[in-house]
Amino acid sequence: TTSSSGLPKNFLWGGAVAAHQLEGGWDADGKGPSIADVMTVGSATTPREITQDVEAGKYYPNHNAIDFYHHYKEDVKLFAEMGFKCFRTSIAWTRIFPNGDDAEPNEAGLKFYDDLFAECHRYGIEPVITLSHFEMPLHLVHEYGGWRSRKVIDFFVRFARTCFERYRDSVKYWMTFNEIDNQSDYLNDFLMATNSGLVYPEGTPAKDREADMFQASHYELVASALAVKIGHAINPDFEIGNMINFTPFYAISAKPEDVLFAHKVNDLRNWWTDVQVNGEYPEWLVKYLEREDFRPDATEEDFQALREGTVDYIGFSYYASNAVQYDEQSGYAFKPDGKQLAENPYLPKTEWGWTVDPLGLRFALDWLTDRYHKPLFIVENGLGAVDHVEDDGSVHDPYRVDYLRQHVQAMIDAVRLDGVNLMGYTPWGCIDLVAASTGQMSKRYGFIYVDVDDEGKGSFARSRKDSFYWYQQVIKTNGGNL
Ligand code: BG6
Repeated sequence: TTSSSGLPKNFLWGGAVAAHQLEGGWDADGKGPSIADVMTVGSATTPREITQDVEAGKYYPNHNAIDFYHHYKEDVKLFAEMGFKCFRTSIAWTRIFPNGDDAEPNEAGLKFYDDLFAECHRYGIEPVITLSHFEMPLHLVHEYGGWRSRKVIDFFVRFARTCFERYRDSVKYWMTFNEIDNQSDYLNDFLMATNSGLVYPEGTPAKDREADMFQASHYELVASALAVKIGHAINPDFEIGNMINFTPFYAISAKPEDVLFAHKVNDLRNWWTDVQVNGEYPEWLVKYLEREDFRPDATEEDFQALREGTVDYIGFSYYASNAVQYDEQSGYAFKPDGKQLAENPYLPKTEWGWTVDPLGLRFALDWLTDRYHKPLFIVENGLGAVDHVEDDGSVHDPYRVDYLRQHVQAMIDAVRLDGVNLMGYTPWGCIDLVAASTGQMSKRYGFIYVDVDDEGKGSFARSRKDSFYWYQQVIKTNGGNL
């Protein structure tokens, strides 16, 4: 049942995207606006602006994105040509419940995903579905203050139940919240808005933001657990995972304070997974909340739900690693203001300042296995880079192939040498799409080039990059030929 690479024969090779970053059709067929629809375009140095509503004269790249909404047949066909076994995308919450608190779902939205999943199955491609990928209904942000409100649990659960029932026979692999741990960086406006629909006026004290983060996270974790339980009742064959952004934090030196501090930071980044896998809050966090006098609203029923709704597998993204340095003044408490981060002299960086660290992926797989003993699924990995189109239309992207080859090698080592139970690998942005953090098209991840620029201009034509043929070969040989 394994190949020469050591990967199982049924290994889920594929690619990953998210609805808001590729679909476009932001108000088509009854879809409502989401938080992603009020984010302007930014750059490596300028953050995206989050406006109150859609404002005239501003450019919102997610509105049309790459118009997958109208091109999906052509795109799925290209995925099939690469040999995809699975395709990870999300269901835009606002296609199904345009306002989030609607009593009835929008049939046209449900129908779109029926058609998309049927198209995948035509080619033997298994959909892998994230329920909430940075796409909270804007109405829930305005009316309820996002995930600050307990009421949002019910709205999410209704959305999850609707999807599980409708797609009971067409989707087997699910994830609840994309990169739920991003909000550990509670000083970052983009991450708070995309994770939890939390939007702040300038000058909001850090302590208030941190308190919101714990409250919103608690409600999300309860919603996630309830969804897992309901999903299993609807179809016991469902595999439902969580989804985290796994960024290892290395100690900058062998100084014991640095080592202990790095350990604490890794704990801080991973407590969401502790809850989603173990069904309870870790000891250190209970103490931390007490010590800092954070008192999130949490009931006995909530804790029971957390215990009953633990996940089947851990889905995670891996792009880069970070390094940290202990400082006397802050002690072992990590504050996401960048002051305790350190430059790792051993690692190169991308044009967007992300470290390139293939061995970090093996570290991630080993670390997660040792700590949780669950099947793992790498649902994002990749290099955002500027591509150049030659006169004949080809795109030579050896830098992307290099990046992916080294990461796939690290992943194979983790399986073959370390015994990691890995379900699959879906590199991010398998077709060029709108970057989440910057809103740019020019930060490209795809095997498939899409002719759209940072202003939304272009022919929207699709073409195969060199990496397309490389990945096709990797899948064909089940990782035997990198
Ligand atoms: C992850 C997200 O954070 O990283 C994706 O789940 C995102 O939505 C990806 O696109 C890459 O980040 P970026 O900002 O380069 O698009």
